[in-house]
Amino acid sequence: TSIQAFIQDLPKTELHLHIEGTFEPELMFKIAKRNNLTIPYADVDELKRAYSFNNLQEFLDIYYAGASVLIKEEDFYDLTWAYLTKVHEQNVKHVEIFFDPQTHTDRDVPFEFVMNGIYRALEDGEKQLGISFKLIMSFLRHLDEASAFKTLEQALPYKDKIVAVGLDSSELGNPPSKFKKVFQKALEEGFLTVAHAGEEGPSEYIWEALDLLKVTRIDHGNRCLDDSKLIKRLAEEQMPLTLCPLSNLELKVIKDLKEYPLLKMMEHNLLVTINSDDPAYFGGYMNENFWGITKALNLSKTQIAELAKNGFKASCLSDEKKEAYL
Ligand code: HPA
Ligand code: ZN
Repeated sequence: TSIQAFIQDLPKTELHLHIEGTFEPELMFKIAKRNNLTIPYADVDELKRAYSFNNLQEFLDIYYAGASVLIKEEDFYDLTWAYLTKVHEQNVKHVEIFFDPQTHTDRDVPFEFVMNGIYRALEDGEKQLGISFKLIMSFLRHLDEASAFKTLEQALPYKDKIVAVGLDSSELGNPPSKFKKVFQKALEEGFLTVAHAGEEGPSEYIWEALDLLKVTRIDHGNRCLDDSKLIKRLAEEQMPLTLCPLSNLELKVIKDLKEYPLLKMMEHNLLVTINSDDPAYFGGYMNENFWGITKALNLSKTQIAELAKNGFKASCLSDEKKEAYL
């Protein structure tokens, strides 16, 4: 089979995915219209032309603007359902997705609308599409720790529906240490923890995520390569890194996919996984990320299969469920 068919057929996981980042322009215009809201772009084409970013912040500004038309529970349901049908076509079997409640509660959208809309779609996806799931609540790191504490309080009634807390948004100047106390509280409440670290921020932020936030996964983590002691630790602990090739390319974390340090990471025995981050904004879902990196680095089918298996290894699935894929 062709490499593209091989990628399509592989059972895959998605471990680094912001549900707000799956908001396709067509659906955005549709939901804006039914909510009597406007988007400051004439049409889908004009909006898509705005998707050109020099760094993380330029992307985040547009991403939050897009998310602002999500108001009702059904909006969150439709957003999540559209994502699930899309990845179902790509043979994704298990997803662990982020949602950013503060992006919505700061606009006075009730926490439960966000939570219930997303969760109902995930349950329907499991029943109708056979996609298993976990939900991760992410704190916005550009906001203060008090706001994160308030969000954690709101999540407590839904504890059984949220596997972990995470940390995303503007990384530089907002180190993991800023959220040490709220992560401590989340751990005491029984949540796992993960954090974006080392995307634009330095390797020190990865150390902080490990030592202060006690994460079980590092989201991105590219900058670990600056620090040989850190590489050694990540390899020894088999700490998963959720890499996002097309995101890194679009946000200028790397210049060219040909320079992507994936093989170097694999040589260091790091547990690396391939993910799509914000597929509606970065030009591709799982297949496109696998295909992009395969073309650029001339990966073999064996290497591609190993990456897909790493996704299951790095997931929060039970050992028994993982076994079925390994
Ligand atoms: N980094 C940080 N915050 C984000 C990202 C990302 O790649 N995507 C959505 N929020
Ligand atoms: Zn991300």
